[in-house]
Amino acid sequence: MEISSYLPKDLYKGKTVFITGGGSGINLGIAKNFAVLGANVAICGRTQSRLDEAATQLTALGAKVCAVAADVREMTAMERALARTHEELGPVDVLVCGAAGNFMCRAEDMSSNGFKTVIDIDLNGTFIACRAAFKQLKSTHGAIVFVSAPQAYTPTAFQLHAAAAKAGIEITMRNLALEWGRYGIRCNSVVPGLIDGTEGVRKTQTIDSIEHQQKSTPLRRLGSVDDIGHAVVFLASPLASFVTGTRFIVDGGLSLTGRILLDASYEGAFPAANARK
Ligand code: COA
Repeated sequence: MEISSYLPKDLYKGKTVFITGGGSGINLGIAKNFAVLGANVAICGRTQSRLDEAATQLTALGAKVCAVAADVREMTAMERALARTHEELGPVDVLVCGAAGNFMCRAEDMSSNGFKTVIDIDLNGTFIACRAAFKQLKSTHGAIVFVSAPQAYTPTAFQLHAAAAKAGIEITMRNLALEWGRYGIRCNSVVPGLIDGTEGVRKTQTIDSIEHQQKSTPLRRLGSVDDIGHAVVFLASPLASFVTGTRFIVDGGLSLTGRILLDASYEGAFPAANARK
């Protein structure tokens, strides 16, 4: 992979990285970037078969892997996953909070359970992962990287639940940076723009909205999963040893334009992927 031409292949040798939602998408891409730089990688998610498939890919990149089915909404499941990781790979040096759920829904149509479900996965799940990993991170003077989203800052139509959750994640990141700095734990977030081929784009964008945003992006392209992986690897590494409490925007400059991701004029153009099963 490209990153090993720029950074030493042993940058993360002997280090253990735990990635929630690491079985697919951006989070698997992040896991792969750590794997090629020598890390032991633990991934969790809800579906064991998906994790096993991801584990095969990570092992092929040279990583020692622990793939544990655990729902970030459940504290005991996460404590078990972290304990198993410690046993198999050693204490966690880096936690990546990536697990997320999303769908498009008008605020006036959203059920309280729909709103709660996304808050539970994204925000509560993030706290649970941090809380469950705390002792290990304290012992390693580790780092946490939170996967945020532009919705945390820019009101985005039909994304109230995800926006509220990600805004909560941002303040969680800054608050933990403040509280856990004394243990040598650094906390930062990465804010991906539109990342090509991901579930997030599939669920929340239309062909028109993708084209519109690509044209508006100063760098004139969508992001790649590796763009995010590179940023996370940097933030978690000694290269960023004095960086904590920051958000790192990786969006090709889209947010500079003040363009909104989706306004209410997209009403009626929800992506087909959003349809309820
Ligand atoms: N529109 C409106 N409401 C929806 C919806 C949609 N497209 N999809 C789910 N909901 C509501 C459900 O109706 C339910 O509320 P109700 O009990 O009032 O009917 C609530 O959300 C929970 O749905 P459920 O399917 O039971 O939750 P889940 O825990 O199985 O799934 C999701 C969580 C809905 C977020 C699901 O999309 C998911 O698992 N996503 C993970 C992957 C993902 O989204 N990745 C993208 C990250 S950007």
